Amino acid sequence: MPLAARTVLVTGASRGLGLTFVKQLIKLPSPPEVIIATCRNPSGASELQALSQANSSVKVVKLDVEKDEDIEECVKTTTSAVGEKGLSLLINNSGIFEPVGTKSRDVDVSKGKDDHEKGHLTVTKLFGGSLEDQSRALMQKHFNVNVTSPIILVQKLLPLLKKAAAQKSSDPLSCSRAGVVNISALLASQDFTQNYRGGVSLHYKCSKTALNMATIMLDHELRDAGILVTSIHPGWVKTDMGTDLGHMTADESIAACLDTMAKADVKSAGKMLNFDGNVLTF
Ligand SMILES: NC(=O)c1ccc[n+]([C@@H]2O[C@H](COP(=O)([O-])OP(=O)(O)OC[C@H]3O[C@@H](n4cnc5c(N)ncnc54)[C@H](OP(=O)(O)O)[C@@H]3O)[C@@H](O)[C@H]2O)c1
Repeated sequence: MPLAARTVLVTGASRGLGLTFVKQLIKLPSPPEVIIATCRNPSGASELQALSQANSSVKVVKLDVEKDEDIEECVKTTTSAVGEKGLSLLINNSGIFEPVGTKSRDVDVSKGKDDHEKGHLTVTKLFGGSLEDQSRALMQKHFNVNVTSPIILVQKLLPLLKKAAAQKSSDPLSCSRAGVVNISALLASQDFTQNYRGGVSLHYKCSKTALNMATIMLDHELRDAGILVTSIHPGWVKTDMGTDLGHMTADESIAACLDTMAKADVKSAGKMLNFDGNVLTF
């Protein structure tokens, strides 16, 4: 059964995967009645604004996830937009992966066991991000956007998520009832990193690994309130972040992610799911 969340909030909806979530949510057989599509700069998000003009369910809301005053305003706007329905689904999609240390590294891509590893190493070469490239500011920025902000958003939106969960109190745990989806990354998997030792991107990987821990902890806190919390790896996708080397288009990735969200149940809670629904090891 396709996803049937009544109200959804997506962060980072200006471009890339966030924008594609909005595009595909409105086309679902039972589309959300309200989609809060947040972005840092609404006047510059022309594609999102066009979607909002053509679809009355899409409300564009300013939100820089690093700014507490934006979060406060966004919660107020969301509260009045969703009303008694509450918030069925929060998609914590905003994320950063700043390319640092672009100088070429001595990485032998021919050693890759498969295309994914070869591609991964190629991008790693482009992005750098080894120990010498790190700074306190870079690390803190990645933790702020990729971990702290998703946690604070869940905290501030919790009354609305609980309201949505309570309205379907006899339903099992699902993203259609009430859910938090943290967009994570395979690069956050400690298991993957142990096996593919060539990769760096220390700042990004540490932050997304911490996001996965947040998913586990939030599941512990929110499951009994009927809220499903999970992480999803969207695949390696052709976006500004994923570069043209990505393996799939944003449309392909998000179609698969929405399908996975529709099927997510108690077995998915506190886990990192691949876009295709398989559980990834942490
Ligand atoms: N693409 C991939 O291959 C891939 C793989 C694994 C995981 N992911 C994850 O998927 C998510 C989306 O990635 P993407 O590929 O769509 O990246 P993207 O094309 O770089 O888009 C990133 C989005 O995050 C927003 N953002 C950045 N900083 C923000 C802030 N402080 N406040 C609010 N929004 C902010 C950006 O807004 P602006 O337009 O204002 O900059 C933009 O909408 C990220 O969490 C990423 O880590 C992506």
